Amino acid sequence: MAEALKIPNHIAIIMDGNGRWAKAKGLPRTVGHTNGAKALQRVIEACKKFGVKTLTVYAFSTENWGRPKEEVDFLMDLFYKYLTNQSKKLIENKIRFNVLGDKSRFNKKTQDAMVELENQTKNFSEFTLNVAMNYGGHSEILKATREIAMDLKSGKISENDITEELFESHLYTSGQLPPDLIIRTSGEQRLSGFLLYQCSYSELYFPKVHFPDFDEKQIKLAIEEYTKRDRRYGKV
Ligand code: IPE
Ligand code: IPE
Ligand code: MG
Repeated sequence: MAEALKIPNHIAIIMDGNGRWAKAKGLPRTVGHTNGAKALQRVIEACKKFGVKTLTVYAFSTENWGRPKEEVDFLMDLFYKYLTNQSKKLIENKIRFNVLGDKSRFNKKTQDAMVELENQTKNFSEFTLNVAMNYGGHSEILKATREIAMDLKSGKISENDITEELFESHLYTSGQLPPDLIIRTSGEQRLSGFLLYQCSYSELYFPKVHFPDFDEKQIKLAIEEYTKRDRRYGKV
């Protein structure tokens, strides 16, 4: 009998390869991004179907601002459209939505749409979708450090209060369990700043397929691979 699937509680995906997907088809990179957004819908549905509780996706890094202006503008527009077009569906499906990252660099209407969707979905507990946008692992750790330094300076806490729990409560993922499985599509084997604090015991998986081709079958393959892993957490 085939081994039963071990379902990760939290899957995190570095959605990479939109540009290469488009290039291989002779299309502009932007078409890759639009198809990446469509793939995200399939991936959310597949994760829910398999019983995954949390999906975190990396949509835009703090370094991605360095891309050509036309591409950044296109992505900003795509994020705004995603937030406004998908909000009804996310609410209907009882999906809790969170942005991981510094919202302040987005334009006002996008920031408002992010906060509104977070507020509208904050009481859902079955499934959480975290979208990392203007996210960087270094900046997240520095943000937490700065906030803790302020609390120390004001006397709210003392240095012995700085525990893992306290530190984690200052991360964007506050209150959430760390990812069990981190997937990076497109074959690149690096994290590019993704969840640097949270990834300490995550299993890593690097499928070759570009994100716009990701679907339920690919999620199943990832879960099958995860099922084979022997997680030890330093023990024997
Ligand atoms: C990922 O695809 C999407 C973002 C980083 C916004 P890329 O745009 O990085 O695609 P490749 O890696 O160039 O193929
Ligand atoms: C990482 O991908 C960020 C996202 C997928 C959003 P990049 O394509 O920006 O990373 P590098 O430049 O290949 O490391
Ligand atoms: Mg890339």
